[in-house]
Amino acid sequence: MWAQAIEDALSVISQNIDRFGEKFPLTSTQGNRIYRLTPNNDWTEGFWSGLLWLSYEYTQDSRYRDAAMRALDNFRERLEQRVNLDHHDIGFLYSLSTKAHWILERDENSRSATLQAADVLLERWRDTPGILQAWGPKDDPENGGRIIIDCLMNLPLLHWAYQQTGSECYRQAAEKQTAISRRFLVRGDDSTYHTFYFDPVTGDSIRGGTHQGSRDGSTWTRGQAWGIYGFALAYRYLREPQLLETSKRLARYFVDRLPEDGVVYWDFDVPQVPETQRDSSAAAIAASGMLELAALLPEQDVDREWLSAAAKRIVASLAVNYSTKDEPAAQGLLNRGSYAVRLDISPDDYVIWGDYFYLEALMRLERGVPGYWYERQ
Ligand code: GLY
Repeated sequence: MWAQAIEDALSVISQNIDRFGEKFPLTSTQGNRIYRLTPNNDWTEGFWSGLLWLSYEYTQDSRYRDAAMRALDNFRERLEQRVNLDHHDIGFLYSLSTKAHWILERDENSRSATLQAADVLLERWRDTPGILQAWGPKDDPENGGRIIIDCLMNLPLLHWAYQQTGSECYRQAAEKQTAISRRFLVRGDDSTYHTFYFDPVTGDSIRGGTHQGSRDGSTWTRGQAWGIYGFALAYRYLREPQLLETSKRLARYFVDRLPEDGVVYWDFDVPQVPETQRDSSAAAIAASGMLELAALLPEQDVDREWLSAAAKRIVASLAVNYSTKDEPAAQGLLNRGSYAVRLDISPDDYVIWGDYFYLEALMRLERGVPGYWYERQ
């Protein structure tokens, strides 16, 4: 069934190459099923590039590669002109564009652009409180001392830069950010805060909170999914056993709260009733993250089995119940993604990161292809 789901996805992606032209999809809005396009000035453009590289890797069809290569010019230009890079999502943007190109083709220009992107990300390091600032410029009154759980997925860019250059600054920042995230974003019951605030002057910890969850103390399902995947990737690079343990615990929390069809609602603390919005993207991220986690475990590890079974259950439900396979004009791969329900931003729509992680999970299942977060063995 994975191969068929991939074929269905490829047919949409192939049509989207012409639909999107030189632009990049972000989300659809208000259920209109048409992707809103950007000129590459948001946090999401890497996902379209990543979809193109995955499609090329799977099919070897040069049409996907040509489109991915055209997008690369745009990513390089963005980096040179520093177009809206005042945020930590540089990891998402450049892991799935220039780094993917380097991983697949060993292109030196893409390697150096990726290192340049890692330097821009590193500029967000704040010695006090010892964090990578998620959003906004230094000294931003709201965001100056703020971390968010999504950042864990941006850290592989720094780990990779350390591997490439041997320069400790990348690794130290990534290691410290992982540790502070584990200490302050993960709660005692293995649920997570979306964000945490520190005093940017004294470094004191202040409080947990949320941006996209239902309330400060709730568990935003996509945040939990970023945590599962992010701590697994941190373990891959750092090999600290507690990171593996944290990823497993977050996964257990996620799996224990799955609704009957295996695809989560947008927050674990909102009523699980039919009118509540789902977030199919959280499901896809968690599934791919659990496959990553399972792949890191030794064969005899007792948690391997339930992790891969849960991931397969989620991806199968996405393919059967949420994919657009029976909608010939669809632009998205998955229905029922949610960007920010409480803020009423694309609450039941296509979201491009959901499409990316859905295809990534399918590729892991069908071919063992893991995406572009780390160098292939
Ligand atoms: N990283 C932003 C989000 O997950 O919506």
